[in-house]
Amino acid sequence: MNTYIGIDLGTSSVKLSLVSADGKILKSVARSYPVVYPLSGWSEQSPEDWYTSTLDGMVELLEDTDKSRVRGISFGGQMHGLVILDKNDKVLRPAILWNDGRTFKETEYLNTVIGKEKLSEYTANIAFAGFTAPKILWVKENEPEIFEKIEKIMLPKDYLAYMLSGSFATDFSDASGMLLLDVENRCWNKEMLKICGVTEKMLPSLYESSEKIGTLKTDLAKKLGLDKDVAIVIGAGDNAGAAVGTGTVNNGSCNISLGTSGTVFVSQDNFFVDSSNALHSFCHSNGKYHLMGCILSAASCNKWWVEDVLGTTDFRKEESECDAYLGENEVLFLPYLMGERSPHNDTDARGAFIGMRPNTKRCQMTLSVLEGVAFALRDCVEIAKEAGIKIEKTTACGGGAKSPLWRKILANVLGIPVLRTEIEEGPSYGGAILAMVGCGEYNTVEEATQKLIKIKDETAPDQALTQKYEQKYQLWKKLYPSLKNVYKQF
Ligand code: XUL
Repeated sequence: MNTYIGIDLGTSSVKLSLVSADGKILKSVARSYPVVYPLSGWSEQSPEDWYTSTLDGMVELLEDTDKSRVRGISFGGQMHGLVILDKNDKVLRPAILWNDGRTFKETEYLNTVIGKEKLSEYTANIAFAGFTAPKILWVKENEPEIFEKIEKIMLPKDYLAYMLSGSFATDFSDASGMLLLDVENRCWNKEMLKICGVTEKMLPSLYESSEKIGTLKTDLAKKLGLDKDVAIVIGAGDNAGAAVGTGTVNNGSCNISLGTSGTVFVSQDNFFVDSSNALHSFCHSNGKYHLMGCILSAASCNKWWVEDVLGTTDFRKEESECDAYLGENEVLFLPYLMGERSPHNDTDARGAFIGMRPNTKRCQMTLSVLEGVAFALRDCVEIAKEAGIKIEKTTACGGGAKSPLWRKILANVLGIPVLRTEIEEGPSYGGAILAMVGCGEYNTVEEATQKLIKIKDETAPDQALTQKYEQKYQLWKKLYPSLKNVYKQF
């Protein structure tokens, strides 16, 4: 049977999965790499690290497997990151990541001087600090000698695709997060290119996520022991990739990702923009559209709290005594470790604990972190509700979704069932499925997901607990407005 490789180019690591055409994960491997925080609120990574880690992971992935069966490779990649190359394809500076907040000035300029209305007309979105266009403006303003040398601008997974195939390409779902794409009409927006001082030649060619952009470079195929016509399919941004991996492709279906970021992703058959542009309006990887709210720190808050502060890696042990405090916790946590995107669009926001007493237990602090992230995701669900979008249930994926406690909190904070799919590797599984569609194994993304994705379990909300969480959420919601001005003074 043919096999496919799905690559999830994440923020903490690259995860690679070898998947058979009937959807079984044959093997998965991961390689981690550092995030560099050069200044408060900045975050960068080395594109070369992504590439070497991917190749290294690929060697292990393919060890002791039948390499001749591999037909295609595709991706789900961290979105919005700015990767710039010079005329010799040299990376000009470290990639500026999706959760980097340095561009507050450029974001403000775009939203006020160009104006939200114009931006929305051009791209279906307004500017958020993490988006790519404000980063281009930042480089232009702060590193003009680098800006002058830019020959190619690409997104993280597109850099991998370029290195593997030599094709300078991107897909509509990922390109949507650049604030350069006319999302409704699926083409680059000339006005936005002018505003950013770039030309179309500097940007990758646009494809649907399941389209083949080329084949693996001959020397790499040889090195990896793969067939020389293994297809490179462009893939999707990690959220659209995770949506494929969890079967979130039908109108109105929802997936929540609890990774480094947290996202509420709602699949839409038709193009839609909410009146305040509070939700991102992006292309989906099935040729259609989606709406999304994104919080910048989700499972990363728990990782920070458990690993860096408590100094352990035993996450389940830390959660083991939390049950007794569900709905009763007096500690509240704001998860804004990297500022916040949805709904506040505030790079100054920071994390905060409030409500401790001398008898507060360690597990209440841990619980507050999980609850604070769930409340922030509820903020995104609320803006979807205001826009008239009804979310009746959701799948959950990402590292955080492995925690039964966190799924229970989420189900009760949102008041909807939280489902898990049998295969939990969201973006890498989605990438493998996109590769299958690109190679003709299935006719459409919908057909593939219908045949391959199965639900493993469901966490239903409990009425009494949902009511308690409703009260906690109403209190929690008051914290950000009270702190907004304090944040500005750090
Ligand atoms: C989405 C976003 C994040 C990154 C994480 O808009 O910025 O979810 O894609 O990798």
